[in-house]
Amino acid sequence: MRVTALGELAASIAHEVNQPLAAISANGSAGLNWLGFDPPRVQNAREALVAIVADSERAGDIISRIRRLLSRCPSERTACDVNAIVSGVLPLVRSQFEREHVALDAEMRADVPTVLGDAVQLQQVVLNLLLNAADACRELGPERRRVAVRTSVEHGRGAAWVALVVTDTGKGIDPATAGRIFEAFYTTKPEGLGMGLSISRSIALRHGGQLTMAPNPDYGVTLSLRLPAQA
Ligand SMILES: Nc1ncnc2c1ncn2[C@@H]1O[C@H](COP(=O)(O)OP(=O)(O)OP(=O)(O)O)[C@@H](O)[C@H]1O
Ligand SMILES: [Mg+2]
Repeated sequence: MRVTALGELAASIAHEVNQPLAAISANGSAGLNWLGFDPPRVQNAREALVAIVADSERAGDIISRIRRLLSRCPSERTACDVNAIVSGVLPLVRSQFEREHVALDAEMRADVPTVLGDAVQLQQVVLNLLLNAADACRELGPERRRVAVRTSVEHGRGAAWVALVVTDTGKGIDPATAGRIFEAFYTTKPEGLGMGLSISRSIALRHGGQLTMAPNPDYGVTLSLRLPAQA
């Protein structure tokens, strides 16, 4: 799953890192230019250097986000803000969605309680669900290329749950095979590993939650992650 997700993300990462790199290069040339004046325009050169520092920090942030997402650190339970987890994943998939002309909508409720969990693992779940949703839309017309991620709080079975749902208008899942999508190595994709949902479901279970799939009334499917809310 890591390898496939990384492969799919490589282009997005390159795209994300390329912007600050291009800006660094442009500001570097500008700075040299300002220093070449007689007398050198020190204030202008200083502004170019400030911009270079900001852009290198931006590039560094992108890299460290990706490293955190892919690292195999031992599970660390902290109070996680599910909205922040979603917000952390969106920049990683944004350029892939844009490239494939899939509209990505995020609706995050402000009042969502925290959950006790491993933020990196929960990010992996969100990443898997979003990549699957984009894959499901890929071959369809523009009006069917829509993915939404929503967070909310639900009450049931005597407890409060944080719900994170990813819904798409993609090709949907044949009811005959729907029971198999969470199996390890079950895939219908030529380059798929079939591990995304299997790993995601075990992460959900390890957090005392659940991951379920339901077909939408019209098109596509909805994957719902429910995690116990912290008191
Ligand atoms: N949103 C979706 N719409 C339609 N089919 C889906 C969706 N999500 C999952 N599936 C089906 O479930 C299968 C298993 O998904 P899973 O994420 O486990 O593996 P994968 O995406 O094929 O490969 P990878 O290991 O790279 O994630 C997919 O191959 C696909 O057939
Ligand atoms: Mg997948």
